[in-house]
Amino acid sequence: MKEGDTELLAEIAKFEESHDMEKEYRIGWGWRQVRVWPATLSRLFKDGYLENVFRSNSFTGYRLSELGRAVVAGGKEDSEARTHQNQKLSLPDDLFGDIIGHDEVKELLRASLMAEKPVHVLLAGPPALAKTLFLWDIERTCGQERAIWLVGSATSKAGLWDLVAERQPRVLLIDELDKMNAADTAALLSMMEGGRLVRAKKGRELNLSHLIWVVAATNRLDVLSPELRSRFAIRRLNPYGRDEYLTVVKGVLVRHENVSVEMAEEVAKRLDGRSQDVRDAIRAARLAPQLGVEKAIKLLLGG
Ligand SMILES: Nc1ncnc2c1ncn2[C@@H]1O[C@H](COP(=O)(O)OP(=O)(O)OP(=O)(O)O)[C@@H](O)[C@H]1O
Ligand SMILES: [Mg+2]
Repeated sequence: MKEGDTELLAEIAKFEESHDMEKEYRIGWGWRQVRVWPATLSRLFKDGYLENVFRSNSFTGYRLSELGRAVVAGGKEDSEARTHQNQKLSLPDDLFGDIIGHDEVKELLRASLMAEKPVHVLLAGPPALAKTLFLWDIERTCGQERAIWLVGSATSKAGLWDLVAERQPRVLLIDELDKMNAADTAALLSMMEGGRLVRAKKGRELNLSHLIWVVAATNRLDVLSPELRSRFAIRRLNPYGRDEYLTVVKGVLVRHENVSVEMAEEVAKRLDGRSQDVRDAIRAARLAPQLGVEKAIKLLLGG
């Protein structure tokens, strides 16, 4: 936002309040009416503060957008917070530093988040493949101001629509997408296309004045509707192969579980061929100080 924009928007809001928009300006007002240069209006529109309701060769009709009105209502501080999400993300090199392997997924997510316009990514696959970890890393980097974290099975009562309208996030992170309720899924479908959201209950509408990037995770793809699947770049994560499993287990135990390299290797070796679940290794490492690695694995896996 440039200096003076908040004042400009406030002037425009005054103009809108003093006229009957539905009767007098059904196709919006033009630059002559509000006495603001077309180039400035076009910039405010691009930044999401105005809606373009009509366009012909000789006339461009605008109206304040939801965001524009929010800026006027909330004053400068608020406006700065909201324009925040329109700025480009800058991602640190170690964005996914705690995740071992998955190089292509890292590359895809990074490129998608940095793209000019949204590319939504869905990580799909069996348990314990670091899907949630990917979402966490993105949340940590974007901060709570710009990313909203949701778990499909526990979507808040307020619903996705209100949450997005209120917080205006840049990134929406949805874990357990397959468990999201129907109302939120409908809102999501519209949001992902940068579309208009219609709130069923009060019949109110919200035009999304900014773009949202969605990154989601799911165990199951078969329960998702075709239209939802189509909106995502779906990246399937396959269970770890034997070598990969050993590398991941060693890395996770040493880095996150404070286990010595020797013990991590022992756990990895003893689980080799018996489990593909990293969580088994974590459980074994946690029981090992009491039981020893061999006994811990025997009790955990049986046999
Ligand atoms: N490649 C990996 N790098 C680092 N940690 C990993 C990796 N794979 C699995 N883990 C570890 O495995 C555990 C499970 O990871 P996470 O919760 O991200 O899995 P998930 O794919 O979301 O599983 P679920 O489908 O059950 O929710 C975590 O403790 C995580 O640290
Ligand atoms: Mg998970």
